[in-house]
Amino acid sequence: MDNNDLYSLYHGLLLPKISHTDKSLKYFESFQVQDDDVIAVTYPKSGTTWMQEILPLLLNGGDLTPVLTIPNWDRVPWLEESRAAEAAKKLSAPRAFASHMPYHLMPSSFFSSKAKVIYVSRNPKDVLVSTFHFHQMASFLHDPGTFEEIADQFLAGNVIFGKWTDHVKSWRNTDLGDRILYVTYEEMIQDLHGVLGRMLLFLGKSMSKDALNHVTEHCTFKTMKQNKMSNYSLVPKDVMDSKKSAFLRKGIVGDWKNYFSPELESKFNTAISEELKGTDITFPLG
Ligand code: A3P
Repeated sequence: MDNNDLYSLYHGLLLPKISHTDKSLKYFESFQVQDDDVIAVTYPKSGTTWMQEILPLLLNGGDLTPVLTIPNWDRVPWLEESRAAEAAKKLSAPRAFASHMPYHLMPSSFFSSKAKVIYVSRNPKDVLVSTFHFHQMASFLHDPGTFEEIADQFLAGNVIFGKWTDHVKSWRNTDLGDRILYVTYEEMIQDLHGVLGRMLLFLGKSMSKDALNHVTEHCTFKTMKQNKMSNYSLVPKDVMDSKKSAFLRKGIVGDWKNYFSPELESKFNTAISEELKGTDITFPLG
């Protein structure tokens, strides 16, 4: 299949046709955000599924029922995806959603609401490695070719949801004030318990020490990999083939070192640094 069959173009962004339709994007644009909604915003492969596990637990006092009985895509649906309309009907307040959209494309009701956003970012080099493997296992994405080839496409923004730099920049210096919390994948790996504590505070929720320990344990890579409601094993093999690469693949920081040649590293650092010039956004170089 060529890219025209796989993707549609939405405000200059490539979106996978399998999950994004004219109808779903219209629904997204007119979506009525509620004040107590929480939206996990990510560039793809930065920790979305992780947030889809964490948010329902933090919002419901650590009750495991939703994460053990509802697939992640219905539990914390992507606002822009075709499942959103049906899935949203089944959610009770406070609702949690996910989105890969850049800030300026969010639905107008979002800007006038008090809904909170948790923005998760990840070292773009590890995002790229994860993207490379995702393209190998997902039939709705184009064949990534070599790592160098997908790296060029990533830097040029010829991947779903466009350039990584445009995404992170769009969500920085927003008018959201204390409605947005920034967390990084790396912080979550280093101190998940601490980040969950920060998220609880941000969400205005509290939880006993024991419950928070339990939630932290449930959200480790090892435990989530066993959860069939979160590990994408419910998706048919012809859509996502876990024999080619597991969706919950490695879940580590720094896997990029196994993929980047010194030349690619230098080219990548230069390109990303250039685009982040004048912003306060940093990304780990080492
Ligand atoms: P890797 O491919 O590097 O393993 P997304 O959900 O945004 O598509 O991101 C997927 C990436 O997040 C994958 O990265 C996946 O393994 C990782 N991930 C998901 N849950 C995780 C967890 N509990 N701990 C660490 N990494 C996790």
